[in-house]
Amino acid sequence: MAIERTLSIIKPDATKRNLTGKINAKFEEAGLRIVAQKRIQLTLAQAGQFYAEHKERPFYGELTEFMTSEPVVVQVLEGEGAILKNREVMGATNPANADEGTIRKEFALSVGENSVHGSDSPEAAAREIAFFFSGLELVG
Ligand code: TYD
Ligand code: MG
Repeated sequence: MAIERTLSIIKPDATKRNLTGKINAKFEEAGLRIVAQKRIQLTLAQAGQFYAEHKERPFYGELTEFMTSEPVVVQVLEGEGAILKNREVMGATNPANADEGTIRKEFALSVGENSVHGSDSPEAAAREIAFFFSGLELVG
């Protein structure tokens, strides 16, 4: 399997509870390498743009408000099949359905406050990495 990169976000419920290190340990134990990482405070406009695919969903407003409620840690994870591997380490969107040992099973509070985001396809990974690690840094 090819070496891939994927975009991960440690969400406000997790940064607020000081879980960044424990979540990063899960990634590293799974063989994912954190090749870029920064802690940022999203604006509502940025959160809305990032989650634009969910614009028509009923939870969009709540989701974007939540993502701006505390700082987040955005990061690029690298490894063999990193996109799928990260989704496995994260667990199901709703922690009630997440497998034992996954991040969401251990740490998520609810389907909304579910601790982590991970890209769901190679196309999403490319777009989401560029969203945080080139476009937004080019503020000049
Ligand atoms: P989605 O992309 O479906 O899940 P995932 O994060 O596993 O890729 O949804 C994006 C986020 O929207 C999800 O992490 C939490 C929030 N969300 C809700 O608040 N309620 C819901 O019913 C769903 C499906 C998602
Ligand atoms: Mg998704």
